[in-house]
Amino acid sequence: MQKTFIMVKPDGVQRNLIGHVIQRFERKGFQMIAGKLMVVSDELAKEHYKEHEGKSFFGDLMGFITSGPVFAMVWEGTNVIDGARHIIGATNPLEATPGTIRGDFGIVTHRNLVHGSDSEESSKREIGLFFAPEQLVTYQKAVNEWLD
Ligand code: PPS
Repeated sequence: MQKTFIMVKPDGVQRNLIGHVIQRFERKGFQMIAGKLMVVSDELAKEHYKEHEGKSFFGDLMGFITSGPVFAMVWEGTNVIDGARHIIGATNPLEATPGTIRGDFGIVTHRNLVHGSDSEESSKREIGLFFAPEQLVTYQKAVNEWLD
């Protein structure tokens, strides 16, 4: 079963959208297998976004992601990596389709509410950065038999 790393960013937490984000993923049929409220350290922020180091927005991104609590999660399901990114919407909320989280609630890229892994490789890496293996609670729900 595929897994992905999802994070409600500091703006999403401040705007009381944690529950809403969780509900969107739950309603789709994905299953949360780990979740925690935490403040991202400078070291973790740098490691998580290391592929963007050197880009013009890197400093702003570091400042933003460490500016307040985030809600970090691991979600599981069939095609959950791409499925989650469809629910989240395009990076720039201006380009995000209405009905997506960023399309409905976001205005600018530097406050775009939610992060989702973009590939299997990055989901493995990001899950490993934020969670210890024993923090992932995999379990069967009867409803899953009706999903695929
Ligand atoms: S790139 O260069 O196309 O790969 O970058 P992009 O995918 O557009 O953005 C990478 C992540 O950086 C975030 N971002 C920003 N955050 C804060 N401030 C500014 N100015 C900014 N510009 C880009 C963007 O939301 C992406 O974060 P994630 O969490 O991966 O969605």
